[in-house]
Amino acid sequence: FGGGYARFFHTGMHSRLGLNSVKKRIRIFDTTLRDGEQSPGVSFNINQKIRIAGMLVDLGVDMIETGFAAVSSEESMAIRKIHEMDGNFISLARCNRYDIDSVIDTGIDNIHLFIATSDIHIKYKLKTSRENIMEKIVDSIDYARSHGLNVLFSPEDATRTDMNFLIDVINTAISSGAYEINIPDTIGIMNPISMYNFIHEIKNRTKSCISVHCHNDFGMATANTLAAIMAGADGAQVTVNGIGERAGNAALEEVVLSVHAFTDCSTGINMRMIPKISKYVSMASKMYIQKNKAIVGENAFSHESGIHVHGLINNPETYEPIDPGILGLNRRIVLGKHSGTTSLKYILESHGIKKSDDEISGILVRIKDMNIYDENEILKMVR
Ligand code: KIV
Ligand code: ZN
Repeated sequence: FGGGYARFFHTGMHSRLGLNSVKKRIRIFDTTLRDGEQSPGVSFNINQKIRIAGMLVDLGVDMIETGFAAVSSEESMAIRKIHEMDGNFISLARCNRYDIDSVIDTGIDNIHLFIATSDIHIKYKLKTSRENIMEKIVDSIDYARSHGLNVLFSPEDATRTDMNFLIDVINTAISSGAYEINIPDTIGIMNPISMYNFIHEIKNRTKSCISVHCHNDFGMATANTLAAIMAGADGAQVTVNGIGERAGNAALEEVVLSVHAFTDCSTGINMRMIPKISKYVSMASKMYIQKNKAIVGENAFSHESGIHVHGLINNPETYEPIDPGILGLNRRIVLGKHSGTTSLKYILESHGIKKSDDEISGILVRIKDMNIYDENEILKMVR
């Protein structure tokens, strides 16, 4: 794994953001509007879809999966509307004429074709043979290409597919005209080491441009995506806040910050837009973000412990692995039962209230006795 560990410190942050050196550019493919919308209970209306697509364009993602055109006329209408904006848009489709025609009808330029390649899916879901899967891949890519579509191809359940067959599938899809192969870990069964080895082998045995699509069933979607990038993957499929089927997909915000922190690669993402789109997607999906969620959770840049605050005030690197300024945020010092006088003094001074050290100590004792840690209550008490 190259022996890397967190390097996303405050110092050197900007060189890590790819502003002043040439680095491999990892392509960020967002599927919030497709796999994200497959989260149980989530259904964006057309205005929300357009708003999210607009924010994704401003965020700087390289490709936006706007939906699955064949699903309904409303879905197809949303894809058409989004296509009126400037940006790179793609729609999902199975390897059949109906789905491909549905994408052609939207007027969009890019199609994401998929078909399962693992024996378990071929036998129990598709009830067919490997030979038939291969024929469908060739036929569908040919058909989509003959209608001028750029084809991204995904062998669904790739991580449970026999490696020799997967290599044949990838080579066939590329020679039929796909511009990139996406490797889905459809049921999230990889771990960072198996993912690294898997992608490393694919990169060694094919000449294909590879992206990965990791599900989070064991809570490893981000780690697996990062491992794939370290093994040579060229792109990552992600969703805002990690929403998606079952336990979700790799979270855009986690993957992007990790790429910048742990690899020599860069992305084209405008990180200061992350908090805004995260809040909007949370509201529109009604999937509330847990407070301790990495990067976008309310507590991600909050500090309660007096020991931590004391260190932070002297040097933020003592307890902050990520500079919140990168995301256009400020750190929050909050009071709690572990707080010390430094935190209280800091909070009061940020509201223009100056107190002597003895007064601060007295107020802290009262706060702890009364078990009141709400900032407004405390301000009322001292003013
Ligand atoms: O998880 C998956 O396999 C997918 C594919 C359609 C890419 O979402
Ligand atoms: Zn998926």
